[in-house]
Amino acid sequence: RLQAAITAVGGFVPNNILDNTSLEKMVDTSDAWIISRTGIKERRIADADMATSDMAALSVKNLLDNSGVNPEDIELLILATSTPDHVLNPAAALVCEKAGLKNAWGFDLNAACSGFLYALSVGASFIESGKYSKVLVVGADKMSAIVNYEDRNTCVLFGDGAGAVLLGPGTEGAGLQDSFLKSDGHGAQFLSVPAGGSAHPASTATIEEKKHFVQQDGRTVFKNAINGMTAACKEILQRNSLAVADIDWIVPHQANMRIIQAVGEHLSVPIEKIKVNINRYGNTTAATLPLCLWDFHKDFKPGDKILLTAFGAGFTWGSSYLVW
Ligand code: ACO
Repeated sequence: RLQAAITAVGGFVPNNILDNTSLEKMVDTSDAWIISRTGIKERRIADADMATSDMAALSVKNLLDNSGVNPEDIELLILATSTPDHVLNPAAALVCEKAGLKNAWGFDLNAACSGFLYALSVGASFIESGKYSKVLVVGADKMSAIVNYEDRNTCVLFGDGAGAVLLGPGTEGAGLQDSFLKSDGHGAQFLSVPAGGSAHPASTATIEEKKHFVQQDGRTVFKNAINGMTAACKEILQRNSLAVADIDWIVPHQANMRIIQAVGEHLSVPIEKIKVNINRYGNTTAATLPLCLWDFHKDFKPGDKILLTAFGAGFTWGSSYLVW
């Protein structure tokens, strides 16, 4: 059967670095607390005039430059994001416009930190069906637009960025083999931006109550993230008759170094096999997985077996198994 392989990668992060020392001047925190509790040293912050579609388009342009693929050959773009430029209209259309994808159609997909994993599975199905041969899957988020920089519980965690992969028909067994994706709306109460949507439209009161910012019960999210990613990876391993030792690399969502370490321990995977760049970028939500693929793709050899896993608001979570 046709399989969807990742044939090119691209990424973009803003130049502006917000390090822990700068955060010490903004909220009651310390570099030592942030590093020991999260593993994050610095994160990137987009300028006011740079929206999510701008970062996404720059990651696509980087991919096209790296691969020499003609923008007019792209047939579909799926943008995973929780921070579209506007509530109405889809940011994917803006990305197609800004990146010169004249013949592509596109749509947004919102599954928070699991967005890229969901979008990868959806994009792959267009390749597997034989309908398309060039599909872009992008994860991009401008978390600084929805983070309250007076709330130390959340502002130290997040950053801005975008990553993109190109899917095409795989050769010699390469490609996405299987995905296990889950969602559970019971988790919505533990991590959300409560206002600005149809449940609580913007009003003076919602703004005064700071309900347009990310709010979370960090400990509950922490525990569920470890359990969800571990269970999803075990499910994928089991149903593909894989032992942990068969896996060359684990690329996990970058939310907290302690979450990543705990998932590694529960799976008995040595930390050397787990890709980590949270120290440099923080949690960029839908962008963490493609930014990792962009950062580390030179380490992957053809035939390498890779597990991707993510957990995010919703709750949403899952794992995908691919052969590079
Ligand atoms: N600096 C200093 N102290 C802090 C800070 C900070 N930045 N943030 C919290 N604290 C304090 C708390 O107020 C608390 O103090 P208290 O005991 O006096 O109340 C203390 O540190 C310990 O708080 P905990 O919540 O127990 O700290 P924990 O070790 O759980 O770390 C954290 C908190 C980092 C938020 C962790 O729970 C976490 O990473 N959770 C998961 C978050 C996550 O992944 N969210 C995003 C999912 S992504 C998406 O879908 C958008």
